[in-house]
Amino acid sequence: MTTESLLRNHWYAAARIEEVTADAPFARTMLDEPIVLFRSKDGSIAALQDRCPHRKAPLSMGRMVDGEIQCNYHGAKFGGDGVCSLIPSQEGKLISGFAARPYPVTEAHGMIFVWIGEAEKADLDLVPDMGAYGPNAGTGVVGGYMYIKANYLLLVDNLLDLTHIAYLHESTLGATGAEALLAGEMEFEVTGDNIRTVRIVRDQVQTFFAKKTGKFEGQGNLDRFTITNFWAPSYLELQLCNAPSSEHMPKCDVPHHRVHHCITPESDGAVHYYWTMAWYHRPDDADLAKEFHTVTKLAFDEDLPMLEAQQRNIESDPEQSPLVNFEGDKAGVAARKIVTKLLAGENARAAE
Ligand code: FES
Ligand SMILES: [Fe+2]
Repeated sequence: MTTESLLRNHWYAAARIEEVTADAPFARTMLDEPIVLFRSKDGSIAALQDRCPHRKAPLSMGRMVDGEIQCNYHGAKFGGDGVCSLIPSQEGKLISGFAARPYPVTEAHGMIFVWIGEAEKADLDLVPDMGAYGPNAGTGVVGGYMYIKANYLLLVDNLLDLTHIAYLHESTLGATGAEALLAGEMEFEVTGDNIRTVRIVRDQVQTFFAKKTGKFEGQGNLDRFTITNFWAPSYLELQLCNAPSSEHMPKCDVPHHRVHHCITPESDGAVHYYWTMAWYHRPDDADLAKEFHTVTKLAFDEDLPMLEAQQRNIESDPEQSPLVNFEGDKAGVAARKIVTKLLAGENARAAE
């Protein structure tokens, strides 16, 4: 895949809110564009191209002065809107139009999202809804960040095909009974740019996560309803819903646990990956939070080397032979189709 496979007109997660402080600039490359984030004088988040318009020094190597960012090369200072407020060597004399490129940026649900494409299309209604993980959601929340040297669609494949749990996560998630994901019926629905899958597996021992919440204590085996949502280009959410097998529920969409995934391509061959997990029972239990974080991180650390090895293999394949799809790839294939369709739209508009 080439850089042209990246979709630009979307909000992408750039950082968690606590990563960007008033004290220091925060650098993040997204879709091959270097961005610097900082908190302006009024407390709002700013996102500028991380290239000083004077001699292209990274502004992120600069310093914060009174809520503005000062380039560490010749001292030019820029506000949150990118406009230059000071050129020290010619104090009092500014240059008309001399500014760093600003990007639309917004804070929501504990994350900072940046829009890399056409600024006039940056609709706040398109920011991913992560309300279930927000500070007022009443859930326990843990999360993590990973830098993975792999194309974002490999990670989308991974999260849409959980049959890999039985093998890659044999000793972590698989060890707690998740191998049952290999069985059961899967419902599959595509609506616009959203894919929803529901996998139902009946009469299974309680998974680690279901058991730990304590919601099903003494209720024996459970029917598992694993709901996955994908929103183009690279947001996913996994909802773990369970019902006691004795109740024979035809469906269950009340999660006891949910995991949100924000995947931000750094380039065609690497991603910034933010995962966030929420649960409803014993939300304030710090030990439980620690345990959920540890187990989830352990599992995701198993995905990382596989994804990076896949990327290396794909890049070095002299024949560039196509990928082959199993039944379990149905959702991943649909996701790639949506991305291809959106890409064609962006390319057509760019060509106009
Ligand atoms: S490169 Fe930034 S002020 Fe010169
Ligand atoms: Fe995995």
